[in-house]
Amino acid sequence: MKIMESYDWKNLSFGYLKTEYNTRCNFTNGRWGELEISSSEYIPMHMAATSLHYGQAAFEGLKAFRGKDNRIRVFRLNENARRLQHSAIGIKMAVVPEDLFRKAVLTAVKLNEKYVPPYGTGASLYIRPLLVGTGAEVGVKPAKEFLFLVFVTPVGPYFKEGFKPVDIMVCRGYDRAAPLGTGRYKVGGNYAASLESLELAHQKGFSTTLYLDPKEKKYVDEAGPANFFGVKNNTYITPSSNSILPSITNMSLQQLSIDLGMKVECRPVEFDEVPSFEEVGACGTAAVITPIRKIIDPDTNKIYEFCCDGKPGPVSTKLYNKLISIQCGDEPDLHGWLEFAD
Ligand code: PLP
Ligand code: COI
Repeated sequence: MKIMESYDWKNLSFGYLKTEYNTRCNFTNGRWGELEISSSEYIPMHMAATSLHYGQAAFEGLKAFRGKDNRIRVFRLNENARRLQHSAIGIKMAVVPEDLFRKAVLTAVKLNEKYVPPYGTGASLYIRPLLVGTGAEVGVKPAKEFLFLVFVTPVGPYFKEGFKPVDIMVCRGYDRAAPLGTGRYKVGGNYAASLESLELAHQKGFSTTLYLDPKEKKYVDEAGPANFFGVKNNTYITPSSNSILPSITNMSLQQLSIDLGMKVECRPVEFDEVPSFEEVGACGTAAVITPIRKIIDPDTNKIYEFCCDGKPGPVSTKLYNKLISIQCGDEPDLHGWLEFAD
């Protein structure tokens, strides 16, 4: 199949571009129906659907990559399937079986094959599975009907800088999640809760916010829509916290750090420890690795600087190159992270 010729793949930003098909499956009468293929961008929904009123909505984000061999590889699909199951349980929705998730994702990618960006452009196909309560309720209770949907869209880097260091701002005035809340699930409400603080950071010229733990504001939580990591003494250090999303990219970087002979620590990270890091970064499917150049703390007027002459640090660079080489099929997939979609 031919790749779309009209796109400027190298300069693609992270946004929605229409593709041709999406896959859908409805949960009614206590079970999942058949997977359907749709070419509509719209969802017919009852005005009293629980997703609209009570936030019964969860989503996922994963990517497909075109290799030098022209084959299409999807990264760690099974982990995203598992995380969507946790999110569904967390907000009382029907659980999508892994087989259904796999079929819906691989079918959506295959049907939109020509939108998978060419090898070597830095762009990829972003896959967005979505699970929403469609059943009508007026009392606060879970729906009995749900829709599971997968759409895809070609994307470039999430932060316009790409693999270049960004500046971020500590956010003490807002929390994206509560200490015992839904931060560890990928549910819509967490993102709604982050919008005001993100807009504030953008207005002040920062790429994103650095959230501290919502209970004490003592520990680092995460960096906007991405996890946070630091490097020091040949060790990859990343926060463990109940209010952050367990990132699949972070999990992969921890494995790659071990493969590179480093130590890994996943533990609470006090904000006061941050200045001692040699390198810091944000990581996620959309963000990949985004090195952090400066962390500005508006409450103390302190500025913490990282990176060598504004360039990404050596460990972040090594990890980034390793991750994208595996995803594109340039390096062997030693951990079984890839599934072919073609
Ligand atoms: N943290 C948040 C809040 C996110 O939205 C994401 C994106 O999915 C991540 C972290 C990174 O997770 P992953 O690497 O699985 O994409
Ligand atoms: C991702 O990295 O997949 C995300 O979901 C981040 C953001 C677009 C919500």
